[in-house]
Amino acid sequence: MKAAEPHAEVVDEIVDAICRSAPEIRRGLVGRRGMVDEENPSGEAQAEADVWADELLEDRLASIDGVGQYASEERPAVVDCGEGVAVAVDPLDGSSNLKSNNAMGTIFGVYDAELPAAGTDLVAAGYVLYGPITTLLVAYDDTVVEYELTSEDRGVVERDVSIPDDPVVYGFGGRVPDWPDDFADYVDEVEDELKLRYGGAMIADVNQIVTYGGIFAYPALESAPDGKLRLQFEGIPIGYVVETAGGASSDGTRSLLDVEPTELHQRVPLHVGSTEYVERLEAALD
Ligand code: AHG
Ligand code: MN
Ligand code: MN
Repeated sequence: MKAAEPHAEVVDEIVDAICRSAPEIRRGLVGRRGMVDEENPSGEAQAEADVWADELLEDRLASIDGVGQYASEERPAVVDCGEGVAVAVDPLDGSSNLKSNNAMGTIFGVYDAELPAAGTDLVAAGYVLYGPITTLLVAYDDTVVEYELTSEDRGVVERDVSIPDDPVVYGFGGRVPDWPDDFADYVDEVEDELKLRYGGAMIADVNQIVTYGGIFAYPALESAPDGKLRLQFEGIPIGYVVETAGGASSDGTRSLLDVEPTELHQRVPLHVGSTEYVERLEAALD
């Protein structure tokens, strides 16, 4: 008999709160497609919906008994809210897609440690995808489960999500002239083998990788050696989901789960997908 996961109850409550919030976030995007006159801690312009979704999620998650910290990419500091696990959230991933009405997501990571925390402290992680259907993937206790969310309920569509064996698609962020030569050489190989799928919201692009197999990266750039995406709110949670689904993740050298956290909003080059392509990427950057 397998021992009950010690955080089962609080993880369930966090997932429940996200399931209730996702349809509300989706409805709340209407009328909040503009920008506010503020920047997030990463120095990026904030959308009205970024700020609003962050406030909604903080209200729902920080009040859960057993949640001790709440943090998001939209706010400078961690919110201390009692004793227990820490929840790190990207309230709206790909919010620049609001203007063009393309898919977006919400990302969460549950850490059994004070933030900033490492992948080895992760207890659960997942993401909501606001696509034609609102879906939620949760990686917990060595399994990834996929749900379809409606305003009333969540239905399981896949109890054990697994990346397919035969990779099909790829998507790489940043501008081509800004890619370091070794990454550009790797792309030359990949584009001969896979089909391009890149939509500007990591969650929508990563969900293509989880569904069809392949590789997604927002790599180190000549202009930004640490890339664009944030370790705590995007890198570790997505690395955990993809690795739990049978794929791999890397910052170019090691699993994203093994990257040392030094500060809450640190950026990290992010590469996730089918193990073969992540291994070839690390060899190319070596
Ligand atoms: P966020 O909206 O949370 O800042 O995330 C946007 C990220 C990520 O979702 C996506 O992969 C990337 O930015 C797209 O960047 P480009 O606009 O440079 O393609
Ligand atoms: Mn994001
Ligand atoms: Mn975001």
